[in-house]
Amino acid sequence: MCGIVAYIGPREAYPVILKGLKRLEYRGYDSAGVALLDQNLNVYKKKGKVADLEETLVGKNLHSHIGIGHTRWATHGEPNDRNAHPHLSASGKLAMIHNGIIENYAQLKEDLVRKGYVFHSDTDTEVLLNFIEDIRNNLGCPLEEAVRVALKRVVGAYVIVLMDQDTPDTIITARKGSPLVIGIGKNEHFLASDASPIIEYTKEVVYVNDYELAIIKADELILKNLGNERQTPYIQKLDMELAAIEKGGFDHFMLKEIFEQPTTIHDCLRGRLDADKGTITMSGISKYAEQLTNANRIVMVACGTSWHAGLVAEYIFEELCRINVEVEYASEFRYRNPVIAPGDVILAISQSGETADTLVAIENAKKQGAIIMGIVNVVGSSIARLSDTGAYTHAGPEIGVASTKAFTGQLAVLTMVALKVALEKGTITHERFLQLVRELNAIPEKVAKILEQNDAIKALAEKYKDATNCLYLGRGYNFPVALEGALKLKEISYIHAEGYPAAEMKHGPIALVDSELPVIFIATKDSYHEKVISNMQEIKARKGRVVAIINEGDKQSIALADDVIVVPETDEILAPMLNCIPLQLLAYHIGVAKGFDVDKPRNLAKSVTVE
Ligand code: F6R
Repeated sequence: MCGIVAYIGPREAYPVILKGLKRLEYRGYDSAGVALLDQNLNVYKKKGKVADLEETLVGKNLHSHIGIGHTRWATHGEPNDRNAHPHLSASGKLAMIHNGIIENYAQLKEDLVRKGYVFHSDTDTEVLLNFIEDIRNNLGCPLEEAVRVALKRVVGAYVIVLMDQDTPDTIITARKGSPLVIGIGKNEHFLASDASPIIEYTKEVVYVNDYELAIIKADELILKNLGNERQTPYIQKLDMELAAIEKGGFDHFMLKEIFEQPTTIHDCLRGRLDADKGTITMSGISKYAEQLTNANRIVMVACGTSWHAGLVAEYIFEELCRINVEVEYASEFRYRNPVIAPGDVILAISQSGETADTLVAIENAKKQGAIIMGIVNVVGSSIARLSDTGAYTHAGPEIGVASTKAFTGQLAVLTMVALKVALEKGTITHERFLQLVRELNAIPEKVAKILEQNDAIKALAEKYKDATNCLYLGRGYNFPVALEGALKLKEISYIHAEGYPAAEMKHGPIALVDSELPVIFIATKDSYHEKVISNMQEIKARKGRVVAIINEGDKQSIALADDVIVVPETDEILAPMLNCIPLQLLAYHIGVAKGFDVDKPRNLAKSVTVE
């Protein structure tokens, strides 16, 4: 969470930083700020979105060739101007931005207050900054050295970026646990939380590792570890185009990303699944085929939507591979003392590859000897790098805060992994394997068919937008789809929604049902269909308003439901990849109809790099 951007070089820094902050706003939008250094060190910051900051700066002299900028997702201290970054040190000479949390800030602050420091914000960032300045004053050392000494005493996660009025040709940055990319241009450097603010200018980047510190001038990048030893920067070429991070004519990134799914799922299958030959090739999985086929247990760790993908995969792996699967919230798993036995495989699922809880969960499991497989979207991200092996989802940059195309990408990858393992293990016949390979290959086209119903789903959104609660029900493979549908509605439209296994509804939630309550059934034809119809009857008997996601010709559902959305038929194992699409569109259109900023829902951030 929090987006950071910095620039040093011959360009005007402010426009580069401002554009970069807009691209990183998905990481947090409680406040925004910049520090620019020309003759003086000037800090401008404002509660609200980057556009609010921009407005206040119109007409100001913002000339500078070095600057740092920040868009905040509040942790310590409420979102207001005072707590916005950058922060200035007590002397006014140092400016710093920070992404992460300093856990021992209270102790550090106490010591500094005792020494007479006065704080102007409630943030842990200002504490760390003054701690660095205090060390510099005491040791009389260069800033670089003071940063190193300070960071050795810090508990927590951070990316920090500092500018010093007395050394206007240098930016100092360091990382532990939060992401940091440095773009290398011609006599210029760009810093950002991800590559999106950088690709417009250069494709050569360095992903900074934990416990590394960089001293950056326009024409020089020095990378060191916290032990002051020089490290060789590993320069990578970005495989990303600018168009991938722009809206391309859509009103919102979320809608663009929903509509991209026929392509992103296709991209995910491309080069791996060959329907003609009836093969699946995944080098990262083949390397660990033995460990996977002999696994006693697969533990999936993830958060949010990625956790829902894990739940779908649990059903698939157990059915196809006959392997015991557990799906864990990473935030719980990391603090338990989980029993990890030899032969356990941990599958970490994450769009961003930076989610702090997932990252720490796999760090812990790795220490206990587990094999880590990452199912990750962002190439080069921390989880991808920490994993022993894995497979990328290839969904491209997901910018809308609500996850959509990453989810279907995760399902596609997890299904391919399960199919490969099942075939290798002999737990499915070759014929069933081929049948599923062919069906999986047809999914992008079927998703495109569902997207043709966008206008009809928009009309449904108008009808249901004033609901105050909503229930999503499904069984089997569609139970996690119900959870995901409810999550999408909650986060985008702020309507309270719950997902439940359809039969479990009788054990409590049915008390909520009245003529006002919309109940969304995921009721496509599968082995549970008759049971789901009975559940639908139970809701109708209590006058609930039923919206059903069904397959063509499902007369029973049509007779019972107030409204239906028809999706193409597929194998029940693959149905979640189709059934989630109308739910994404429904949440999107309800959010828009209610006038909310669907790309930046309140209180949320795309990449949760704090616990
Ligand atoms: C929901 C959503 C979040 C993320 C969760 C995990 O739409 O986006 O629930 O799924 O924060 O993020 P990743 O997948 O980046 O680890």
